[in-house]
Amino acid sequence: MPVEQEQIRAKIVATVGRVDSVLDVGSGNCDLVRFLAREVAREAVGIDINGHTAHEDLVPTSEGHPHTARCLEMDARDMAQLVDERFDAVVSTHALHEIADPRAALREMRRVLKTDGILFIADFTEGETRWDENYFTPTDVDAMLREAGFEDVDVQQVAGEHFMFATARK
Ligand SMILES: C[S@@+](CC[C@H](N)C(=O)[O-])C[C@H]1O[C@@H](n2cnc3c(N)ncnc32)[C@H](O)[C@@H]1O
Repeated sequence: MPVEQEQIRAKIVATVGRVDSVLDVGSGNCDLVRFLAREVAREAVGIDINGHTAHEDLVPTSEGHPHTARCLEMDARDMAQLVDERFDAVVSTHALHEIADPRAALREMRRVLKTDGILFIADFTEGETRWDENYFTPTDVDAMLREAGFEDVDVQQVAGEHFMFATARK
């Protein structure tokens, strides 16, 4: 059974918890960003190189104060519009393998993360054949995260799936 969106979202909630601000890299249609604004952070920002889904919303929450969900057109390899140490957490789902220079993107993710902030990545792994795309192995991602300067790197292949979850800290 493929790793479902619900499983990925539950894993993000368990890993990131409740924070003030979160960035989603390669945010696509902005759906995860709206979820993050509901369940994870007061402010959720998504960036995607494909800007046609640019979007800004106030998301009602059970706490009464609406949270901000915002998706912007931006290249993960150069997020100069975002200042250093801007976010408590950075997440990215199904996107790392699509970014032309993933090493540059990981360096940028680390730059915009606060010291001690958490990075969460979910992506397909080598061997997935549903789409004609190239994927990394968990070993590749582990090495790239360390090379980008992350600490407490943990990359787990999901048993029986061509899929991985990776976490790391700045
Ligand atoms: C397979 S989609 C995943 C979308 C969403 N995160 C999800 O889980 O459904 C990969 C996304 O990565 C984006 N992407 C590819 N290269 C990028 C880059 N250099 N910077 C930012 N986003 C990029 C694509 O535009 C696309 O929306």
